[in-house]
Amino acid sequence: MSVNKKPIYFAANWKLNKNPKETREFFEQFLKELPAFKRSQVIVFPPSTCLEATSQCLLDTEMLWGSQNCYSAAHGAFTGETSAQTVKDMAGHIVLLGHSERRTLFLENDEFIASKTSFVQSLNLKTMLCIGETLKERESNDTNKVLSKQLKAVLSQKIDPNLLIIAYEPVWAIGTGKVASVAQAQEAHKFIRSELELKWGAEIAAEIPILYGGSVKPDNAKELLAAADINGFLVGGASLQVDSFLAICMAD
Ligand code: PGA
Repeated sequence: MSVNKKPIYFAANWKLNKNPKETREFFEQFLKELPAFKRSQVIVFPPSTCLEATSQCLLDTEMLWGSQNCYSAAHGAFTGETSAQTVKDMAGHIVLLGHSERRTLFLENDEFIASKTSFVQSLNLKTMLCIGETLKERESNDTNKVLSKQLKAVLSQKIDPNLLIIAYEPVWAIGTGKVASVAQAQEAHKFIRSELELKWGAEIAAEIPILYGGSVKPDNAKELLAAADINGFLVGGASLQVDSFLAICMAD
């Protein structure tokens, strides 16, 4: 373990995978094999149909869990949406917001994501905000501009830095097997940290976890984690199997 005592986060984004039975089977094996971590924090975002199974399996554990999305209101005539209030009622801890699949496939814009983020925080739940550039934006040297715009929309709301986790996920690295190099990831994380500093100052910004996501695998996790501003991972494909997710969690 390194001398840095800040928590390291290992978050699983299962997307639209697993049913309640598979969820229970995953946790039965995962919890059996998970060592007692001193500083690492494991988070799981199951599909909404598996939130109840997750809440039951993780009841007496240190793991955090929550939904992959939610609406910006607790209840009402919002067919097909997930209530963050219900996630909280079920003893959930966190909501994932602004994932690039929500932005591109479901046309969520920065303002909508920002309103949901502040709503979730008003319930005193943690928020994991995903931001990241497309390949085209990177190639036209617009990475920082995009990150800044995505962040600003959220940071202009009433946001508690203690409830905020950022996941930097370059869109071109998600599910493609193309992982950002350590230098590319570190450069983006450092820029994100500098934006957070502008808002809250260096001391608070240093405490906000910034996770990397995009084709994280057991064989690239250790190298990425050595970068100064990478505080953990948001893992998609490799979080679906116990063995590969555990191997990533052991990278610390
Ligand atoms: P991936 O997905 O690990 O399969 O690239 C990451 C994510 O979408 O959060």
